[in-house]
Amino acid sequence: MSDREAAQRWEANAPAWIELSRAGYDVYRDLVNTPAFLAMLPDVSTSSGLDLGCGEGHNTRLLRRRAGRVVGLDVSRTFVDAARAEEAADPLGIRYLQGSAHHLPLRSRSVDFVVGFMSLMDIPDPAAALAESHRVLRSGGFCQFSIVHPLTLTPVRKWVTDATAIEWPWPPVVTSRTGRSKRPGPSALPPRTSGPRSGRFGSATTAGRWRDG
Ligand SMILES: C[S@@+](CC[C@H](N)C(=O)[O-])C[C@H]1O[C@@H](n2cnc3c(N)ncnc32)[C@H](O)[C@@H]1O
Repeated sequence: MSDREAAQRWEANAPAWIELSRAGYDVYRDLVNTPAFLAMLPDVSTSSGLDLGCGEGHNTRLLRRRAGRVVGLDVSRTFVDAARAEEAADPLGIRYLQGSAHHLPLRSRSVDFVVGFMSLMDIPDPAAALAESHRVLRSGGFCQFSIVHPLTLTPVRKWVTDATAIEWPWPPVVTSRTGRSKRPGPSALPPRTSGPRSGRFGSATTAGRWRDG
């Protein structure tokens, strides 16, 4: 798939993604992936970094609270606009750029670290994204990415019943009279009332870091 085609697909997907993730439905991200990612992040309190494929900026904002300076970059205009709106409402000093990881609009050796929260596997040419990450890194800088990885994807995956007897996934798949299965759209979802629901969640994620130098 070309970079352009991938960008168009992410752009089409962005409004639903923003609505769902901000309503608390990105439970893997919020309960598993991001906490693990941040736990393995070195001290970046005096460093400047790039969040590659930052989406609507949720993780960029968490990262900014630990880092000296952060730039978020995403290929989707809608994601970048949503991230900028959040930044305008509650400024943390994050700069958001629209652009492709294949051709980073940053100077060479201009950041101390590059991170990607579950984005590298969605970028059409990950080798180009890594080469660009290497280019913009200062000597001694590091990259840290989490990805969905075939090594940790189990052949059978399913949600489990949680302590409150709510069976995931929610919403249930609806079977229509034609026999077709479909899920209701985002607006049909019930609001999430409290914090993350209790329960066990399987993870199919791999995170890694390499350091230049
Ligand atoms: C699975 S989402 C993760 C979003 C965000 N990091 C998070 O954790 O919520 C993958 C992101 O990669 C972005 N993306 C895909 N191809 C890209 C590219 N070539 N350059 C920059 N971002 C890209 C998508 O627009 C999307 O926001």
